[in-house]
Amino acid sequence: MDRMELIKTRRSVRTFDGNPLNDQDKKKLLEYMENIPNPYKIPIEFTLLDADEHKLSSPVIKGETCYVAAKVQTQPHSEEAYGYSFEQFVLYAWSLGVGTTWIGGTMDRKRFEAAAGVRQGEAMYCVSPLGYPAGKMSVKETVMRKGVKADKRLSADQLFFDGDFSAPLRTDDKKIADALDMVRLAPLAVNMQPWRILRIGSAYHFYLKHSKGYANRPWDIQKIDMGIALCHFMTCTDGRMVLEEPDMAAGENMEYMATVIV
Ligand SMILES: Cc1cc2nc3c(=O)[nH]c(=O)nc-3n(C[C@H](O)[C@H](O)[C@H](O)COP(=O)(O)O)c2cc1C
Repeated sequence: MDRMELIKTRRSVRTFDGNPLNDQDKKKLLEYMENIPNPYKIPIEFTLLDADEHKLSSPVIKGETCYVAAKVQTQPHSEEAYGYSFEQFVLYAWSLGVGTTWIGGTMDRKRFEAAAGVRQGEAMYCVSPLGYPAGKMSVKETVMRKGVKADKRLSADQLFFDGDFSAPLRTDDKKIADALDMVRLAPLAVNMQPWRILRIGSAYHFYLKHSKGYANRPWDIQKIDMGIALCHFMTCTDGRMVLEEPDMAAGENMEYMATVIV
């Protein structure tokens, strides 16, 4: 599967078949996680955790035997960097047929942090179960997907703009149109769809539209969403990221994140 196919077919997997990862897949995942770069050049440290050994579980996950956790030194842009690298891992796992679900909330955080050995100054923003999807989703998973509106996304006109925030971005460039579609398909916390993109020439400026109640926590989970969106957009365009905020009044609750030059 190519990159776009992986993004299109990925979904959060919350019901697994109960089998452990086979040796070959485990080896590949361990090798891959040794160094997963991001455009911020902030190191993200991944670790595999056996669910039984560490007594790890999540109330929304069934049939898992293993988790992946990742840690980062907290610093400016650590959430976006984390989102970018973790999503690379998610897509790589999916290329092997290994399912994942980003989990930032529905877990016993203390237990996971202890298992991952989180030290002073580090954060473990999220974890994910790893395993092979069961043939059928559990009833709980089906209900949950409906509840969080997992399959609903805003239209492109509401998310992507050209020149200023009043004009929807329309493009005949298939590569760009596809990359924007891939942003809309990104996994995201609580389905708030915070991504806004403003094109000016060949620069695609990414803004975070903050939802109420998320920014004032120890970290901003929506910045992780932005890192995931950057990952999808950049890997589909081979764009280059810079931090150069345009001189442009952004809308209410909007924060500039990064620019991708295509
Ligand atoms: C940063 C982040 C945190 C998330 N936290 C949770 C969580 O705690 N529990 C959960 O079941 N899903 C969680 N999700 C998964 C989202 O609910 C899911 O990505 C969204 O509903 C879209 O569905 P999809 O991944 O199948 O496309 C999280 C996703 C992201 C990106």
